[in-house]
Amino acid sequence: MHPGASFIGREELHAVERVLKSKSLYRFYGPHFMNVTGEFEADMRAYFTRRYAIAVTSGTAALHTALVGLGIGKGDEVILPTYCWVACPDAVVATGARPTLADVDDTLTLDPEDVARRVTKKTRAIVAVHMRGVPADLSGLRRVAKQHGLFLVEDVAQGAGGSYKGKKLGSYGDVATCSFQLNKMITAGEGGAILTDERRTYERSLMFHDVGTPYRGFSGKGARLEIEPFPGVNYRMNELSAAVLKEQLKKLDMLVEKIRANKLKVEKGISGTAGIEFRRLNDPQGEIGVSLVFFVKTPEQAREFKAALAAENITTPSGAYPGVGYDPSVNDGHVFAHWGHIFPGMSRLMKEHEQTLGLLSRAVHLDISPLLSEEDVQDNIDAVKKVAEAIL
Ligand SMILES: Cc1ncc(COP(=O)(O)O)c(C=O)c1O
Repeated sequence: MHPGASFIGREELHAVERVLKSKSLYRFYGPHFMNVTGEFEADMRAYFTRRYAIAVTSGTAALHTALVGLGIGKGDEVILPTYCWVACPDAVVATGARPTLADVDDTLTLDPEDVARRVTKKTRAIVAVHMRGVPADLSGLRRVAKQHGLFLVEDVAQGAGGSYKGKKLGSYGDVATCSFQLNKMITAGEGGAILTDERRTYERSLMFHDVGTPYRGFSGKGARLEIEPFPGVNYRMNELSAAVLKEQLKKLDMLVEKIRANKLKVEKGISGTAGIEFRRLNDPQGEIGVSLVFFVKTPEQAREFKAALAAENITTPSGAYPGVGYDPSVNDGHVFAHWGHIFPGMSRLMKEHEQTLGLLSRAVHLDISPLLSEEDVQDNIDAVKKVAEAIL
């Protein structure tokens, strides 16, 4: 699954060539400085309808920076889903705060009711993750956040190009983060971004990602940020990555259109198949369609289903899909059960989050690529129907 990478073409090649010829690969200056990173940030602001954007080196760096930008650190707690990517709890730990898990529901995104149950006096933020291209319940999560005075962070790593109630994912949270790693909708191999409308969060993020410097990247000569300096890290993006991403961003809507169309065709083709139940969608119009997930009745059936689909040659070059959401025999960093190095007392947590494990272990995942031909789409439909008939 490499949507953006599959569509790398002349545009990216030319953009990279221009930067190389300029000999100015650094984002703030160079012999023939072009400020491609600044331009990419402007394009991100326009696409996501945000006041501020900061390009960084990865999605993990973006999460770390965004949380620090919000002022989160030691003594704080941050709620995140039991099903996301290990980088999410990693980023919380990196700030000095404590990650707290909340279950996902049958959308496989955060269950707002469980989030509400996990709030303590120390909780400062909720991280909503639009998992596998499906919008989280932003209305429900916003309600909980408001009720308890918490920040809402949107992790758009797996949902770029999607929307919720007609507005882009990434435009809702107090701060939103993107990843441009290879498997993401658009990519430069690695990369990330932070989006926000709040000046203080922006300024703190800007400083943190650039070793605490209180002046760089801020428009206007001699302008200084309005906040007190504090130590930072170096998560600055370079001009080569920005050149690729600027071109990739122009392709995002086209990619979503292709992927969604393929997903809808496969979904239509297998709907009504006895024994399968589709993942619930918080906003069917807003998903990007990179995955088609359905539940079967038992974990054994799910594993058998996956193996039978693979035998029908429904697979990806990496071999990662078709997949089962949680298979104890597969080490998968998306599921909390594999985060024992971050969360002590895992056997207690496994009992506490039976809702998540119950759903994920019955969830069969298909990958939906923008490259599927009509024949590929039909192959997917035929295989699911054949396997369902044989084993359910
Ligand atoms: C939901 C989610 N959050 C964060 C990340 C971290 O992004 P990166 O790999 O760019 O650090 C990823 C993916 O890798 C992800 O899928």
